[in-house]
Amino acid sequence: MSVIKMADLDLAGKRVLIRQDLNVPLKKGVVADGTRIHASLPTIEMALKAGAKVMIMSHLGRPTEGEYEHQYSLAPVANYLSALLDQPVRLEQNWLEPEFIPVEAGEVVLCENVRFNIGEKANDDTLSRRMAKLCDVFVMDAFGTAHRAQASTHGVAKYAPVACAGPLLAAELEALAKALDNPARPLVAIVGGSKVSTKLTVLESLSKKVDQLIVGGGIANTFIAAEGHQVGNSLYEEDLIDTCKKLRAEAQARGGDIPVPVDVVCGKHFAENAEAEVKKVTDIVADDMIFDIGPKSAAALTEILKNAGTIVWNGPVGVFEFNQFGEGTKEVAMAIAESDAFSIAGGGDTLAAVSKYKICDDISYISTGGGAFLEFLEGKKLPAVDILEQRAAQA
Ligand code: 3PG
Ligand code: MG
Repeated sequence: MSVIKMADLDLAGKRVLIRQDLNVPLKKGVVADGTRIHASLPTIEMALKAGAKVMIMSHLGRPTEGEYEHQYSLAPVANYLSALLDQPVRLEQNWLEPEFIPVEAGEVVLCENVRFNIGEKANDDTLSRRMAKLCDVFVMDAFGTAHRAQASTHGVAKYAPVACAGPLLAAELEALAKALDNPARPLVAIVGGSKVSTKLTVLESLSKKVDQLIVGGGIANTFIAAEGHQVGNSLYEEDLIDTCKKLRAEAQARGGDIPVPVDVVCGKHFAENAEAEVKKVTDIVADDMIFDIGPKSAAALTEILKNAGTIVWNGPVGVFEFNQFGEGTKEVAMAIAESDAFSIAGGGDTLAAVSKYKICDDISYISTGGGAFLEFLEGKKLPAVDILEQRAAQA
């Protein structure tokens, strides 16, 4: 099914309400990482250029509904956006109230945090209709929040006169489809993170689609334990050992694999100054904690990545925040950067690694989604996309 795209609509003089994901980290009241704002900018510029009256909605953090809390105000985002656009951005507190001053063509209004409104998270019908009343065209562009069925991502799309996908959302969906629906092979996915349990559905779904599934972080520890090795004090999930065995056997039966590290980097405690020791997985002792893959394992992954046609990356393979445990993630990052494969990376930790190792320009597509990226990888239908497809089918 397809969606209506903003780029195909005539927006001149129209009231255009754009849902973006401007949920960015703040530090001392200023934007600490503006990646999502930069990614959203072309959509705003396109709408302005088309002569639209632009209103933007976003959430920031997870405030209590019905209460204004200063720390969750979008004011820092309005300032950041205004500097990027080189024009004022009017931050509106009362955008759902009768006193809201209608937006003019060429003007940009940022509606204060959608999650201050009671009913946002519950996808309340009345709230959704009030949002829809503000516009002639609703543009869903918040890929990072497309896995949430909330008033500003889903409900509003039901009732707006026209509901379409913005260029960022469309680009994200296109890149993900390219990576997963009809990929250049071999298709390699890297899934890092601390727990098998939180990424089990992703692992299950990806292991059926990919040629090689690379696991890292705490997830790999459980796979190491499943090989019968002791993992000492490392984070792992004993109750998922059988699941890991099964996943790997199934991957191998399909002609693929889930490679398990043969060496690791251990420390005795989780700290910035912890001493790092490279060990074979057969040599791990009771007070060891695995914090990274070892050089042999990293070299094996580099080889796999070198030959890949498509690479999907979510999650670092070690505690890369500490340099002595960052070599594995760095090698993986460099291998992806140097590969000719179509590569796509997503998730907060992954993007931090991309930025730390300065490979941003060498990845084919960087997703702004965290949870949404994962849910897409799981093969789930994103509710905010689903409703756009329904609207397109009715149009
Ligand atoms: C995110 O940062 O994951 C998205 O903006 C969604 O936020 P949420 O997890 O609070 O819904
Ligand atoms: Mg989240």
